[in-house]
Amino acid sequence: MRTVTKDTITQSFLDYVADDTDPRLKFILEKLAHHLHDFVRETALTHDEWRKGLEILYGSGEISTPERNEFVLLSDVLGLSSLVDMVNSAEDGTPSSVLGPFHILGAPDVPVGADLVGDNTGDISVVGGRVLTTDGAPIEGAELEIWQTAENGLYSGQDEAQPEYNLRAHMTTDADGRYLFSTVRPAPYTVPDDGPVGELLHATGRHPWRPSHLHFIVTAKGHRSLVTEVFPNDDPYLDEDAVFGVREQLIMEYQERTDASALPNDLAIKDKLDGKFYQVDFDFVLSSE
Ligand code: BEZ
Ligand code: FE
Repeated sequence: MRTVTKDTITQSFLDYVADDTDPRLKFILEKLAHHLHDFVRETALTHDEWRKGLEILYGSGEISTPERNEFVLLSDVLGLSSLVDMVNSAEDGTPSSVLGPFHILGAPDVPVGADLVGDNTGDISVVGGRVLTTDGAPIEGAELEIWQTAENGLYSGQDEAQPEYNLRAHMTTDADGRYLFSTVRPAPYTVPDDGPVGELLHATGRHPWRPSHLHFIVTAKGHRSLVTEVFPNDDPYLDEDAVFGVREQLIMEYQERTDASALPNDLAIKDKLDGKFYQVDFDFVLSSE
């Protein structure tokens, strides 16, 4: 096409896409072109604004390292990551939520009832529940990856003072589908805001805080894998998570307790609990594959 106008450029672009292009790629490009071009037409984007957008992307590349991916963070704060989660989340199981950048492979294998407290300080919490099918049947042998921040709001890997696998574990459910561990209560924390994403947050009057949460990846044969996180109902940032990860079904409660006698006997810390502790009950429902 020799003459391109603002009204025909979208079709011109699509005409360039070869007929034998992978159909899904073609579909995605078609939608992307429509939405991007409409965005420019609808906003009448200026050259300065376009350049600023490209600067954000350039700056994201500059600040990214293998440990810090500013593009993922950009996707997170724009709500894109959560939207992809929601579009792909099983309707009949526990909702998924953002993976975040702090999961690492190789967490130690621990038995049901394990104590993760170690040298950590903070409110002692006993966290447990069952992994279930959508019919409510317990899933034996489901695997859980668990990770969380320490009381200072930092993950091991971010904080030299913490051992490599501090507050991280891999657990396999028992015959009743149970998982159980003792830990300390994690803290709310901020996503990195010293780069272009932070600049965007600050320019729009947004803060970088996430409500405190426990991360889980739950997998079991014949079921869809679940990447999710659970949030306490009393967290001050519950309704303003910087990365839009909270879902109603992922909210739990730190129930204050003083009597440990009713806790399961396989809880390693049981006999050492004297005084106040907290209990969290949360079941995961895995959708069939
Ligand atoms: C996290 O929960 O670990 C996380 C998620 C998105 C951005 C930063 C951190
Ligand atoms: Fe996190």
